[in-house]
Amino acid sequence: MATQDFIDTTASQADDSPFQTLEWRPASGEQPEALLLLDQLLLPHKIVMVVCPDYEAVGQAIKTMQIRGAPALGVAGAYGMALAARRSAAATPQALLAELEVAGKHLFATRPTAVNLGWAIKRSQELAGRLAAEGRSVSEIGDALLELARQIHADDIRINRQMGAFGEEVVPAEGNVLTHCNTGALATAGFGTALGVIRAAHEAGKKVHVWVDETRPYLQGARLTAWELQQLNIPYTLVTDNMAGHLMQRGKVQFVITGADRIAANGDSANKIGTYSLAVLANAHNIPFYIAAPLSTIDLAIPDGSFIPIEERSAAEVTAIAGVRVAPEGAPAYHPAFDVTPARLIAGIITERGIARPPFESSIRALFEVEEA
Ligand code: MRU
Repeated sequence: MATQDFIDTTASQADDSPFQTLEWRPASGEQPEALLLLDQLLLPHKIVMVVCPDYEAVGQAIKTMQIRGAPALGVAGAYGMALAARRSAAATPQALLAELEVAGKHLFATRPTAVNLGWAIKRSQELAGRLAAEGRSVSEIGDALLELARQIHADDIRINRQMGAFGEEVVPAEGNVLTHCNTGALATAGFGTALGVIRAAHEAGKKVHVWVDETRPYLQGARLTAWELQQLNIPYTLVTDNMAGHLMQRGKVQFVITGADRIAANGDSANKIGTYSLAVLANAHNIPFYIAAPLSTIDLAIPDGSFIPIEERSAAEVTAIAGVRVAPEGAPAYHPAFDVTPARLIAGIITERGIARPPFESSIRALFEVEEA
């Protein structure tokens, strides 16, 4: 059973830009150790940390989108596996491995599209299996899984900064950048992917103004990206998703950049629903369309985007906005949460090891072969 609790930090942080998307809280006194997650369903109105003392609570936070964004899901998944191990009463390492199998399945089933979640769960299970084979105790395995989660957490921030450094070079020195969904610090352990590239360009002195797609139905753009850009003092304007074509036709977009939830070996990239339309529009107007994503988002096991599972969420998220019904009672609605942009529409995939360019089969593979800088 999930046992979430909440800590309201609105008053202490409302005027302050720094925030933590995920935070490990060690045990103290009566308080058990827990993963704290910034509740993204309440932003930008309230800054509340959800307390997740067990993996079921982490699973619930992922499913309900209190935490979201592919890299952040990977980090949360790793902490979830650590909690599963550390709260276990297993008498033997083998019994623990069986429990981790169950926990992994539970966490994996929460959201199917972002590959980072499965990637982190698999890494945790492989580490646990290796340590059990070496004869390590249940508590040693629990400690090691927490260490791994902390490592994945720290790596993600470092990787995002590297992506920012590579990516900012292709952002125009001046102009309007259009982005979709939220790919900033909130979607990652910190700094962000596509929004991190925009941030790096801004920090490098480039005069960028950002068109922020509101991103129906969940409004990640309006609620989260606008909030992040405001705190970073990066100029932006919020638009509804259907305004992109008009802006491009009028010469008001010079660059489009989004994140990705899963990238196939050929470069086909799944991202928030609406991304494909943007890529088609950008290509029709000769505007460069880029993706920024860490290598952990690339799934070399699938040859192309047709193999990417597309999450379907509740139709109620389409018939209502922020909980307020806008469609007539009983209106049928459909809610695929992601779409796939074919590789041929993508100018480059920005990663922590450089920018892959078409043809992506070879350029992506080459990135996996180079040593990290
Ligand atoms: O449904 P969400 O909010 O988890 O979808 C997030 C996205 O589509 C992001 O663009 C993607 O995860 C990249 S985040 C750095």
